[in-house]
Amino acid sequence: MSGRPTVAWLGLGRMGTVMVERLLDAGFEVGVWNRTPERAEPLLAKGATRIATLADALDHDLLYSMVLDDGALGRLHDPDDGLFSGAGGRATTWIDGSTVSVAAAGRAARAAAAAGLGYVSAPVSGNPGVVAAGRAIFAVSGPEQDVARAAPVLDALGRATHVVGAGAEANVVKLATNGLLAVVMQSLAELVVLGEKAGVPRDRLLAFINDSAVGSPFSTYKTAALVGLDFTPTFTTEGQRKDVRLALDLAAGLETPMPVLSTTEVAFSRTIASGLGAGKDLAAVLLTAARDAGLALEA
Ligand SMILES: NC(=O)c1ccc[n+]([C@@H]2O[C@H](COP(=O)([O-])OP(=O)(O)OC[C@H]3O[C@@H](n4cnc5c(N)ncnc54)[C@H](OP(=O)(O)O)[C@@H]3O)[C@@H](O)[C@H]2O)c1
Repeated sequence: MSGRPTVAWLGLGRMGTVMVERLLDAGFEVGVWNRTPERAEPLLAKGATRIATLADALDHDLLYSMVLDDGALGRLHDPDDGLFSGAGGRATTWIDGSTVSVAAAGRAARAAAAAGLGYVSAPVSGNPGVVAAGRAIFAVSGPEQDVARAAPVLDALGRATHVVGAGAEANVVKLATNGLLAVVMQSLAELVVLGEKAGVPRDRLLAFINDSAVGSPFSTYKTAALVGLDFTPTFTTEGQRKDVRLALDLAAGLETPMPVLSTTEVAFSRTIASGLGAGKDLAAVLLTAARDAGLALEA
């Protein structure tokens, strides 16, 4: 590989689409594949090329996947019609940015190794807006030479990479981070409901929290949803629960009690099962907290 690597991008959801836009803006040559091919159209108009089959993706220097979950990642390396079902190509390294389990990353890494490719776990912290602004960060793990090959692309995509190991450690880091994010979201929801029942409007309470030591970039950018009740998803309640469950599965396998995260899983499940927050942004756990407290919310 010489010069800037060519990239085969697999998965054009909310995250994948903005990530490809960043690479195109930075001058990378990007081929794109998505299970639902129509979602590629806007990127084709911006200069990406279409990859017809997963096996064709190997005609690029790097593979980069950004798909929903363990099942979707497994689909990519399906033995019958997945990435490694064809004659191969010049690809050296598969980078995966999806939030998946350690076990799924291991299966993908083994499939890549059998085809002679290295595998890098590179889950991302940052929603689509954060990615678009160039402020995403990556937890990265994999063999040193493959991490080095991934570096030019990761540098173009975000503001920092944190190399945390040579295997699937990055997946662990991401699950821990998203576990914390879910707990913070649920706590914010409960506490703004408490505040409002006690007579403090949500915007005032959140303005103070955001200015305090426990405020964060996350609490600040979720304030608009919590105050304005606009739950257009940056990340859905279902997606967030998926990550919480992956962290709880990891914990169960390692005999590590997670009392707070377990309760948070229930809160997300109630929000999804009741229909209050299904398909909505993860901040919609507010709706369940308010209903449980008998509080009518107004934007
Ligand atoms: N959104 C965020 O704020 C955020 C932040 C950090 C990390 N993440 C992680 O990034 C990943 C992508 O998130 P997203 O928000 O972009 O999700 P999304 O908008 O729901 O997109 C999911 C992508 O996965 C594909 N997919 C789903 N099931 C598949 C299957 N069985 N086979 C092949 N492809 C499949 C979808 O294809 P179709 O178009 O055909 O449905 C789509 O391209 C997830 O692991 C998520 O946890 C998200």
